[in-house]
Amino acid sequence: MKQNWKNNDLHQTIGRYFKINVKEKKPNIVCAVSGGVDSTVLAFAISKYMKLDNVHFIFVNNGLLRKYDVKNIKAVFKSFNLKLNIINAEHLFLKKLKNVIDPEQKRKIIGGLFIEVFSKYIRKLEQKDFYLAQGTLYTDIIESRSYHGGKSVTIKSHHNVGGLPKDLKFDVIEPFRELFKDEVRRLGLFYKLDEKFINRHPFPGPGLGIRCIGKVNRQRLDTLREIDEIFIKFLIEKDLYKNSWQAFAVLLPVKSVGVMGDERTYEETCVLRSINSVDGMTADVTNIDVTILSEVATLIVNKVPRVNKVLYDITSKPPSTIEWE
Ligand code: XMP
Repeated sequence: MKQNWKNNDLHQTIGRYFKINVKEKKPNIVCAVSGGVDSTVLAFAISKYMKLDNVHFIFVNNGLLRKYDVKNIKAVFKSFNLKLNIINAEHLFLKKLKNVIDPEQKRKIIGGLFIEVFSKYIRKLEQKDFYLAQGTLYTDIIESRSYHGGKSVTIKSHHNVGGLPKDLKFDVIEPFRELFKDEVRRLGLFYKLDEKFINRHPFPGPGLGIRCIGKVNRQRLDTLREIDEIFIKFLIEKDLYKNSWQAFAVLLPVKSVGVMGDERTYEETCVLRSINSVDGMTADVTNIDVTILSEVATLIVNKVPRVNKVLYDITSKPPSTIEWE
């Protein structure tokens, strides 16, 4: 249940969490950073309350990121003066995802590989007992056990690092497990993190892997990256980005006929989605004027050769979900 914390209460609650759950003066902490708001605010919270001698912030580049993700996260950590360890595992992820179409299978592969790459790195650190810090939110916990007909079913296997192998001895710390996204954002602003970064839209752990419907390969990912960049830049330029809770592009493996100049084309379709929400549990479509949408559609089709149709998703959650996959 939402607690309606004030900023100072939030700050004190997190401080108390660390005090109760981490006894050591210089704890061994390993923190997986995804590049999103939650894990970044978490990294900053750790740096506020803990001595950093044995703290490791780890970022796995899985090749399923948008054009600007690695650059942004590097810049944020640099501005914190915190060391970020980046592991480049793009090749491995794309190899294992080759020809996989089923979304849950994609999630399992991405989650499993993440654990594999991450564990390998931790083993090298030779930290015998450590804390594993995660930016799990209250919504992540309830979304992972949603109800259907009275029976508990998993809608999605949310991407976290809870499944690390048994030979690694650690305690999980999840200081945000009672918080909602807007509260983590407020906490970040309270810590004086850059507003632009804090107000970034959420991005799912499995990244473009689930937004690339059908086969995931370098070419389709690059296409989606191009579309996403055009769409997001466009929203920022039109001052619409801040009115949306989450906006993104999806690539569909649906080919249809189009025309470019005098040429007939036969290319894939992309979907743009922009929603309003408070915490991601429910969502409504953002009301963007059709002429504006049509402007961005033209930009996309003119600049990205592998798509010839642009759709705008107008479904609410429920009955839909925010992501396509
Ligand atoms: P859905 O699609 O379930 O998404 O309506 C709700 C919110 O959760 C994000 N999402 C994820 N975030 N790991 C994450 O960290 C995931 O596996 C994941 N799946 C969905 C989604 O982007 C939206 O903000």
